[in-house]
Amino acid sequence: MLRVCVIGLGPIGNRHARLYQADPLAELVAVCDWDKARADKAAATYGVPAYYDVQEMLEAVRPDVCSVATGGHEYGSEHHLPTIQALEFGCHVLGEKPISNEIPQAEEMVAKAKEKGVCYGINLNHRFTPAALLAKRWQEEGRLGHLLFMNMSMWIMNPRETSPYFQIKALHPHTVDIMRYFCGDIEAVQCFATKAPGRKIWSTATFNMRFKNGAVGTLTGSYDIERGHPMERCEVAGTKGRFVIEDMYREATLYPAGDMEKRVYTNPIFGGMRDFEETFANRIHKFLEQVSAGVSPDEIDGSGADGLAAQKVLAAAIESLNNETVVYVK
Ligand SMILES: NC(=O)c1ccc[n+]([C@@H]2O[C@H](COP(=O)([O-])OP(=O)(O)OC[C@H]3O[C@@H](n4cnc5c(N)ncnc54)[C@H](O)[C@@H]3O)[C@@H](O)[C@H]2O)c1
Repeated sequence: MLRVCVIGLGPIGNRHARLYQADPLAELVAVCDWDKARADKAAATYGVPAYYDVQEMLEAVRPDVCSVATGGHEYGSEHHLPTIQALEFGCHVLGEKPISNEIPQAEEMVAKAKEKGVCYGINLNHRFTPAALLAKRWQEEGRLGHLLFMNMSMWIMNPRETSPYFQIKALHPHTVDIMRYFCGDIEAVQCFATKAPGRKIWSTATFNMRFKNGAVGTLTGSYDIERGHPMERCEVAGTKGRFVIEDMYREATLYPAGDMEKRVYTNPIFGGMRDFEETFANRIHKFLEQVSAGVSPDEIDGSGADGLAAQKVLAAAIESLNNETVVYVK
């Protein structure tokens, strides 16, 4: 059983804490927030000690794993400090997305994990569903044939206006990760964006991508659409077939080329995923499973390196948006 601490007890850190407590591979041993009221409230909820300083907690509790669910500017500026502290201490770390809102900091975090030889995962939870795993299996079985194109989209409401690039940097770690999961590294990107009425930030955007393997893709995303209807759609096509995943886990449909019959997986009523929170449960469980099994840090699903790669695509997209050019991902 892995001894786990959660750092950052906003809504998302509380979700991590709750899920660690429910997971048979983990024992939640402490929570830490420099906001004393938040730390104390979480400590009382989960029956574990509260800390207000990360270093103090690490030394007192000596956890195996830390979740870093901090936030900050563009939802990512606070991750660097506690992640480096936990990695430096030798803990495995599962961090929230985006890995960081700044590329140099993200690079430092990935390098620190490598230097310490520990596992570093990012909560790229959208790929940890039975539907996504099945679609990956279809792909690995050769049912798509030669990869041709991918259309990805995700839309939710987030009225925050923290920076012009908030939507691009904070929403799209998820979508770009799904694109990389199915089609591999992205080498070039072009982005247009728009501002919904009353908004000052680039709250809706479209992206054209070219993957290193030659396939092409589009991505559309928005922070302007209220919840209710579906919020995510993923389509991947090749010479032999095409699949569509609706809402991460609800339904995956395979359309074999030249065949009038399609194959459909529907999230089951009994034993299926109940809601979005279960994407976190699955992702957290997978990280615990891989750490417990001694999986090599290079082989962690949804790794820090994946989080960094997604952020580099988004940095290229922002450059493209500003200069109205195609930008090669560095
Ligand atoms: N994976 C997903 O689907 C998903 C969904 C929503 C949000 N998120 C991510 O979750 C993260 C957290 O979101 P939130 O709304 O809970 O944020 P929040 O700002 O409400 O909470 C962050 C907490 O971290 C604390 N904190 C920051 N730095 C600290 C430090 N060094 N030591 C101790 N405490 C520290 C803050 O005091 C704050 O209480 C964000 O990065 C966001 O992008 C992920």
